[in-house]
Amino acid sequence: MLELGVTLVDGKAVLITGCDKGFGHALAKQLHAQGFTVFAGCLLTGENGDGARELESMKSDRMKVLQLNVCSDQEVAQAVEFLKNNLKEPEKGLWGLVNNAGVSAFGEVEFTSIDKYKEVADVNLWGTVRVTKAFLPLVRRAKGRVVNITSMLGRMASPSRSSYCISKFGVSAFSDCLRQEMYRWGVRVILIEPSNFVAATGILTCESIEAQAEELWSGTSKTVQEDYGKSYFTRQITLMKSFINSGLKDMSLVLNDITDALTSKYPYTRYNPMEAHWRVRLTVITHLPTAVADWLYIY
Ligand SMILES: NC(=O)c1ccc[n+]([C@@H]2O[C@H](COP(=O)([O-])OP(=O)(O)OC[C@H]3O[C@@H](n4cnc5c(N)ncnc54)[C@H](OP(=O)(O)O)[C@@H]3O)[C@@H](O)[C@H]2O)c1
Repeated sequence: MLELGVTLVDGKAVLITGCDKGFGHALAKQLHAQGFTVFAGCLLTGENGDGARELESMKSDRMKVLQLNVCSDQEVAQAVEFLKNNLKEPEKGLWGLVNNAGVSAFGEVEFTSIDKYKEVADVNLWGTVRVTKAFLPLVRRAKGRVVNITSMLGRMASPSRSSYCISKFGVSAFSDCLRQEMYRWGVRVILIEPSNFVAATGILTCESIEAQAEELWSGTSKTVQEDYGKSYFTRQITLMKSFINSGLKDMSLVLNDITDALTSKYPYTRYNPMEAHWRVRLTVITHLPTAVADWLYIY
């Protein structure tokens, strides 16, 4: 029986969303290696699901891969049934739910379409709310943990990231409300707020930035195009591309914090896997008067 901190892992099950690649995929393997039964929700299964196939190829009865688009009421309901039928002791509930599935987006407000705002929120925010509501009865039964992957951009705004920030600030508010409601049930609700790990996970790539740039430029009005100008826009895209190589390349800080959130007897409410300079910036922006923080970091 494996013991981490003071919470026993043995026999506990965790559902993770977005296990096709990135944090979710790596976390599924890490938690499995530590003795958890892992329900790995993947957006793509079958022929096109490379990530799902890789997890299935482990041929472990503690690694259970399931189809789970967090935007689909039907797939979420099917996932609940799948867990009820595959948990070893369903009456004891589900120990952990990790809401990890997410998409990234960028673009200044005047370039971002309403459809884009909705598309990002559909996965990051409403997907998290939908999945959480569906699995809470099982998590409550286990007096377990809900671990939501937000971002430092879920507490700190940034120019060109409004669609992403809105979705992650929303998850943050949702998690804080839920945490307060869940104290009396013995359920812990925990936020993971990573900085930039784009180079480690590939949530943004040069190709996806170029595709989004095309969408932003062609989707806005002539007035906005003329006022901002193509050269300014191109500079912003170049800046965005530089961002994909500037972050942490090793995702273990994030994976270890999620593991701690699931295994520590007294987990933190918020984990901040990030470099020191981002930690300073997050503290300054969330503690100093807004005008001072903007003067320091934005002007
Ligand atoms: N990487 C970072 O720098 C960073 C920083 C802060 C926070 N985060 C957050 O961490 C989480 C994981 O990101 P990541 O960097 O690991 O990104 P990633 O490598 O792109 O992984 C995201 C996963 O979510 C899946 N997904 C997308 N839409 C989905 C949907 N509708 N239903 C179910 N799954 C869906 C993706 O599936 P496909 O691969 O099939 O599209 C993929 O498996 C996200 O919530 C992200 O916002 C990331």
